[in-house]
Amino acid sequence: MRHLLDTRDLSRAEALEILDVAEDMADTQRREVKKLPTLRGKTVVNLFFEDSTRTRISFEAAAKRLSADVINFSAKGSSVSKGESLQDTAQTLQAMGADAVVIRHGASGAPRTLATSGWITAGVVNAGDGTHAHPTQALLDAFTIRKRLHGDDSRGRGLDGIRVTIVGDVLHSRVARSNVWLLHTLGAHVTLVAPPTLVPQDVSGWPVEVDYDLDRAIAAGPDALMMLRIQLERMNAAYFPTEREYSRRYGLDARRLDALPTGSIVLHPGPMNRGLEISAEAADSPRSTVLEQVANGVSVRMAVLYLLLAGARTDSEKEDLR
Ligand code: NCD
Repeated sequence: MRHLLDTRDLSRAEALEILDVAEDMADTQRREVKKLPTLRGKTVVNLFFEDSTRTRISFEAAAKRLSADVINFSAKGSSVSKGESLQDTAQTLQAMGADAVVIRHGASGAPRTLATSGWITAGVVNAGDGTHAHPTQALLDAFTIRKRLHGDDSRGRGLDGIRVTIVGDVLHSRVARSNVWLLHTLGAHVTLVAPPTLVPQDVSGWPVEVDYDLDRAIAAGPDALMMLRIQLERMNAAYFPTEREYSRRYGLDARRLDALPTGSIVLHPGPMNRGLEISAEAADSPRSTVLEQVANGVSVRMAVLYLLLAGARTDSEKEDLR
């Protein structure tokens, strides 16, 4: 793997390889000493043009646990705020010897520009671009669903026949877009639930069903319900009458939580608007995988950095991970 830009580019075999290596990484994270020597001498740059706490920290933890050197470059307070272009920033990183660049950017397509521009030789990982894609989030979500539903029997398995319902602000969500393609590739059935104003116009080409009624979608018995954050910062118009009205129709409250089939799980990528798209009861219930998603995020990002930077694994390296 040279870059990770979009889950749409991933074949089933590639996606399963990432998830399976992430299983190996998760095993190493249960040891007392969590650090592996695998990426010693490699430099990973976290290039964040948009605010983020958990994703940046997660990539940082992942790189450090593989013994890479990490440089955190956040656009605020950097020369980017003085008007330096993406090209100049990239060329500076190249001159410093970056082996991988993890980029988050407000503009959809910025990671692909970086990867294909010729400005850098480093591998590029998309950590979220505009409303377009967030592939490591989708991979950690798929990993979490697989682990909850298949447990120790997860390795090598897809999500065939599993029903995942994604609820909320799909319009502004790169998490939803990346999940739709990855879940489909892994064999899951995906339903989107949102008010009509928050469903993108172009979904006719997506491998999904759309429902506007959350109660009906819950009655259909999904295996996993993924609640999306209402992205107020991306909204320049009124997409729903009031927050209270949204929450009443599309929020996961205690009653809807109870209506879910036994064994079905609730995901949220964070940060959560408690009381808006998800109630405290749902967020803190045993069905909720929110904290597992965070922990699994580190393992999945370790796998991605490893596959990008260490290339094909030798058998003895595979042994080191066991
Ligand atoms: C997501 C993002 O930034 O797209 N969050 C994250 O990666 N932790 C989802 C969101 O902001 O709602």
